[in-house]
Amino acid sequence: MSGAPRIRIAQPMLGADVDALVLTVLHSGQLAQGPMVARFESACAAMAGARHAVAVSNGTVALEAALQVAGVEPGDEVVTTPFTFAATLNAILRRGAVARFADIGDDFTLDPRHVEAVMTPRTRAVLPVDLYGLMCDMPALVAIAGRRSLAVVEDAAQAHGASVDGRPAGSFGLGCFSFYATKNVTAGEGGCITTNDDDQAATLRVLRNQGMRDRYEYVAIGDNWRMTDVAAAIAIPQLQRLTAINDARRAHAAQLSAMLAHDERILLPRVPEGRTHVWHQYTVLLPEAVDRDMVIAAMRSDGIECGVYYPRLVWDHAAYRDHPQVHRDETPVAARAARRCLSLPVHQGLTHTDVESIAAALLRAVR
Ligand SMILES: Cc1ncc(COP(=O)(O)O)c(C=O)c1O
Repeated sequence: MSGAPRIRIAQPMLGADVDALVLTVLHSGQLAQGPMVARFESACAAMAGARHAVAVSNGTVALEAALQVAGVEPGDEVVTTPFTFAATLNAILRRGAVARFADIGDDFTLDPRHVEAVMTPRTRAVLPVDLYGLMCDMPALVAIAGRRSLAVVEDAAQAHGASVDGRPAGSFGLGCFSFYATKNVTAGEGGCITTNDDDQAATLRVLRNQGMRDRYEYVAIGDNWRMTDVAAAIAIPQLQRLTAINDARRAHAAQLSAMLAHDERILLPRVPEGRTHVWHQYTVLLPEAVDRDMVIAAMRSDGIECGVYYPRLVWDHAAYRDHPQVHRDETPVAARAARRCLSLPVHQGLTHTDVESIAAALLRAVR
């Protein structure tokens, strides 16, 4: 098959309300850090059940800024998951900190039982990742961090509207979201940090705007992490219909799981008790005996695009392998997930028939 597959792994779905709001911005004369960004921040704070949301230009700088206000200084250690996107690690390294890795559980997120084993007197923060739209066991992680007075920065880049025990992603401390093109809610590019702490929010607002508190009064070495109002206008209508977006994804995930259960060699994604998954990705583990590349090629010839998030542990790349700020901790569960994982389309633009085709194609491909 040539050309783009019929069923994509991600498909931004905007709409007439987005068109209208973007035009409002274009005609308003305020294109950056203006009133639409303020509206976006209110919607993000509501989504996360947090007092404040501070908009920034993407999820990577959201993490870097959050680590800074969490008090992580160069040389401090940050414990995170090895099964994540490079942005998580890049933010730690940009902060000058040292990354330590604890293994994941069978839900693909950081396993609290392994976190303490890699802590040292230099540990300053824990950076769990809500992978694929599933929150980590935040209550357990926050309890562990609290006992040692460590900060928790939650990488909720993939988890808009997810929750654990009824508490939304971003409500546990510092939460960092991405609004990149493929996310459940997109701004094209965008990010935000959520917090209940007034001082942290004020500092974040200063840092994102060149360290400026009042006009031309610089109180910190800041950066330009501002978001545009055009980006905010793209995201706001999607934030307003987030429940419907996530419900559609959840229905597709349930349909995939029901159909794929026919082959018990395929490990289906597990949703632990008390957690609400928002299915940024629907990820299975393929049987060891099956060649993943061949499965991907077979799916593609059926017109279906799959993803591998992520094919290696995050530190297992040329940029990091011998980096002095990167510890190559042993994490066998994550290593196996990286070898066997495959993400199937689950986005809200699919039809019932699309989902049937996806599951049927995978069952054929692994046979
Ligand atoms: C887990 C995770 N962390 C961080 C990021 C960084 O977000 P952004 O691409 O908006 O910089 C992403 C997304 O791309 C992500 O998936």
